[in-house]
Amino acid sequence: MRIPLFFLLILAAFSAKADPLADQQQLRQYYKKLFPSLKLADYAQGVYALDPIAKQSWLAINEFPPYEPALEQGKILFNTPFKNGRGYKDCFENQGIAIAQLYPLWDKEKGEVLTLAKAVNDCRLKNDESELNYEKGEIAAVLAYMTFTSREKEIAVKIPVDDVRALAAYQQGKAYYYQRRGQLNFSCATCHIENAGKRLRAEVLSPLLGHTSSWPTYRLKWGEMGTLHRRFIGCHQQIRAETPIAQSVELRNLEYFLTFMANGVPVTAPSTRK
Ligand code: HEC
Repeated sequence: MRIPLFFLLILAAFSAKADPLADQQQLRQYYKKLFPSLKLADYAQGVYALDPIAKQSWLAINEFPPYEPALEQGKILFNTPFKNGRGYKDCFENQGIAIAQLYPLWDKEKGEVLTLAKAVNDCRLKNDESELNYEKGEIAAVLAYMTFTSREKEIAVKIPVDDVRALAAYQQGKAYYYQRRGQLNFSCATCHIENAGKRLRAEVLSPLLGHTSSWPTYRLKWGEMGTLHRRFIGCHQQIRAETPIAQSVELRNLEYFLTFMANGVPVTAPSTRK
């Protein structure tokens, strides 16, 4: 009895400070000053919204989008029934079509953040299918198709403010973003907030706003598709930091924070990145 109560008190203390909407406004004001010519929707382009030369080659590559095969494969996978005759569409609202902009969701029953990738695997497990690798391969294809059906829809993630656990999850995701780590002792914010728009070696640093809207993505560096959490892991490696595994609580809470910041930015996934 004592432990859960104690735990709840900690959660309450943690979430007392949480004000997602105020954070969102503050962040947007910051970027508005930094990049006065950008509209909210432009942030979906990531670094290409800031770097006109890189944008030209990005647009050229997208004339024959390298994610296309994965998208087609994803459509087939999504529509192929499981061995028990049921399918992905039976697990989701609106049969899984045009719902990606609502994820991550807050799962009230389990008291945790449910990302679209996790919902896909939960669906498989419920139907006695094996879990997919969370970083690449089949899951990236299925997510490519699902997000494609949400293209141009504005991200609309909800944080139920009457649930202290949801606020705590958000707050943990935010704290994770600002926490310095790794041998270089950088936080995500060091690069994507403080130094957004500046150059780091050959790369211009993109703003965090809109960071989730283009994933999964075909990265030229990988030569294949990858998920958002694979990209998170890549950024940890750049600063030589220990990395939580894809779809761990930490990274799901991080995605919850980032995606809430991106509310109103259109879904542009699947996309292409250097
Ligand atoms: C040393 C600087 C640095 C740090 C620290 C860093 N990143 Fe990155 N990140 C980059 C670079 C460089 C890219 C590729 C160019 C770009 O989009 O900014 C990138 C790209 C990304 C992208 C893809 C954006 C898109 O639209 O394609 C995401 C998402 C991301 N980072 C998240 C994170 C998260 C989360 C953290 C903290 C765990 C983090 N980054 C820490 C440098 C950094």
